Amino acid sequence: MKRIVVGVSGASGTVYALNLLEKLAAAPDVETHLVMSAWAKKNLELETTTSLKDMEALADHVYNNRDLGAAIASGSFLTDGMVVIPASMKTVSSIANAYDDNLITRAADVTIKEMRRLIIVPRETPLSQIHLENLLKLSRIGAQIIPPIPAFYNHPQTISDLVDHHSMKILDAFGIQNEVGHRWKGDQ
Ligand SMILES: Cc1cc2nc3c(=O)[nH]c(=O)nc-3n(C[C@H](O)[C@H](O)[C@H](O)COP(=O)(O)O)c2cc1C
Repeated sequence: MKRIVVGVSGASGTVYALNLLEKLAAAPDVETHLVMSAWAKKNLELETTTSLKDMEALADHVYNNRDLGAAIASGSFLTDGMVVIPASMKTVSSIANAYDDNLITRAADVTIKEMRRLIIVPRETPLSQIHLENLLKLSRIGAQIIPPIPAFYNHPQTISDLVDHHSMKILDAFGIQNEVGHRWKGDQ
């Protein structure tokens, strides 16, 4: 059984979190713990046709971002890691500076201090030097930075194909066996 924390912040691209939660729900022996910021919920409404209720139903446990007493706020609650998807530059900055004023950033800080796997899916463009420095700081302490940058070697036909491919990269990073995207098998 893998226990994965999914933090969703208010960057554009809530569909990446939605798709990942669908894949995690379909994967055997994976327990998900979901926390969404207020702006993530707003962007879900702005960018998708999925209701908050339906998104939350994909997770095994759902927390309020203001609930700093939640299980995932403590290092004694064992997890296999956390993904912040998409990660706004505000949330990236908070995590890079251990500014733990909400559950997403506190859970990320716990993931770092307990030396567990932390995956950041940053979404902003262009990236300023401040954004890049914060991401570099996180990368240097072992966080994996997996931006939602599409690949085209697999000839995606739909937006779903692009998003699936990104979910594959996240599942791969957590060591969850999957074939949700098309893998490169050589050019022969
Ligand atoms: C429609 C919409 C799209 C946004 N897209 C981004 C984005 O791609 N990247 C980003 O860093 N912030 C983006 N923002 C701004 C963040 O939502 C804002 O900085 C917010 O304070 C982030 O808070 P959170 O990280 O706690 O969710 C967007 C806001 C809106 C309303």
